[in-house]
Amino acid sequence: MPAPTVVIIAAGEGTRMRSSLPKVLHPLCGRPLINWPVTAALEAGAGKVVVVDNPRRRLEDHLPDGVEVAVQQHPNGTGDAVAAAGSHIDSTSTVVVINGDVPLITAEALQGLVQAHEDSGAAGTVATMELDDPSGYGRVVRDREGNVERIVETKVEGDASEAELSIREVNTGVYAFDGGSLLAALADVDAANAQGEVYLPDVLPKLREQGKVVHGHPVTDPTLTLGVNDRVELARVQSLAQTRIQQAHQRNGVTIVSPATTTIDAAVKIGRDTVIEPGTTLKGATEIGAESVIGPHSTLVDATIGDGVSVVHSYVVQATVEDHGTIGPFSYLRPDAHLHPGAKAGAFVEIKNSTIGRGTKVPHLSYIGDADIGENTNIGASNITANYDGVRKHRTKIGANVRTSVDTAFVAPVEVGDGAYTGAGSVITEDVPPGALGIARARQRNVEGYADRRKG
Ligand code: UD1
Ligand code: MG
Repeated sequence: MPAPTVVIIAAGEGTRMRSSLPKVLHPLCGRPLINWPVTAALEAGAGKVVVVDNPRRRLEDHLPDGVEVAVQQHPNGTGDAVAAAGSHIDSTSTVVVINGDVPLITAEALQGLVQAHEDSGAAGTVATMELDDPSGYGRVVRDREGNVERIVETKVEGDASEAELSIREVNTGVYAFDGGSLLAALADVDAANAQGEVYLPDVLPKLREQGKVVHGHPVTDPTLTLGVNDRVELARVQSLAQTRIQQAHQRNGVTIVSPATTTIDAAVKIGRDTVIEPGTTLKGATEIGAESVIGPHSTLVDATIGDGVSVVHSYVVQATVEDHGTIGPFSYLRPDAHLHPGAKAGAFVEIKNSTIGRGTKVPHLSYIGDADIGENTNIGASNITANYDGVRKHRTKIGANVRTSVDTAFVAPVEVGDGAYTGAGSVITEDVPPGALGIARARQRNVEGYADRRKG
């Protein structure tokens, strides 16, 4: 058998989300909903993945390379959506259809469905699940022999009878078909139902009418096939996805102290023996090395963190902290802050678009923006780079082994040489040569007898 074609239908309006963002682009653990089944299909070894989009948007901008896109002109139903992908379907191969709003399906579950379908020789196999609360799903009606006869829809009144509504076995929205049989049956399905749409499940009775076999394939773990139609269901699926992500990290050797207060996006990478402390959020393409401690209460967005790093009560966005850096408590690292190994950003320190040299410390209450600081330098408390003249940004250069004193302001562009010092309270507007002390403040004057004069 050639590898199956997987058709993922995602052209619907998603009206129950009540959102200006298409349902399938809502993020689930940092990855658009649609990318979940796409990833599962690719992992399962699909020969071809086709996503059905509608003409008013461009899902392809969000899809991995190599995924094909078909367009359903009008949202006339799930059957019509699959028909829109007809030219991508090879009549001799197995075709898996996945509703784009079933994100938790796994590669193994898809492989299991294809295996069951091909082993049974059925023309169509629908994955089903039993739910305590089946509301909103299409119910599976079986005949006396237990074969799937048809699916009755329940989204609006008029399709299902009272008796059918009490059925707890539902259509998961994941199917396998013989390609040729699917195309032939689709051509035969009409929209004579409560919604006036072409329902994909209606191909099942058509296959039976043609004397073909239809199978129901119960999935034993219904959490894999929950659909997302509104934000309540999105939240439920999000918590299951989060558990899946965290357990994968835990099995790879990451300690997550408080899973319930931790959020980790799908693409995040974490090395062994790293500890994620409570209240921590790891977003986007964040990568963390081994033996680091992140949190408590830290947020990392697209951050790159090395080995043995500590990040306590801090917010790190698109910044890099190399091995053995110490961040926080209460640091704010902004885009293109790059801390070389062993560097420190301490309490109430903000750094952006700056390189901080190996072993250099910015321990307290400072703003470092558009600066390059060499190795083993110590920045005193409350140092500020005045990097913005109101129109343009300018860089500050501070060499290696520099000691700046408290309350130094660097009015950029300005350069401080290696081994130099600055005096407390200095506003440095001119370059400080290597080894020099730059001091720029008014001299102190003491007014003798001042207190006595006030009394008189
Ligand atoms: C569908 C099934 C239902 C099943 C449930 C499982 C039908 C008619 N009903 O209902 O039996 O229990 O999924 O989650 O298939 N779409 C299009 N074009 C359209 C309409 C929908 O591409 O014209 C896409 C949507 O973008 C979505 C998917 O098809 O990704 C399912 O559509 P949705 O409206 O969510 O169907 P359900 O009501 O959930
Ligand atoms: Mg749905």
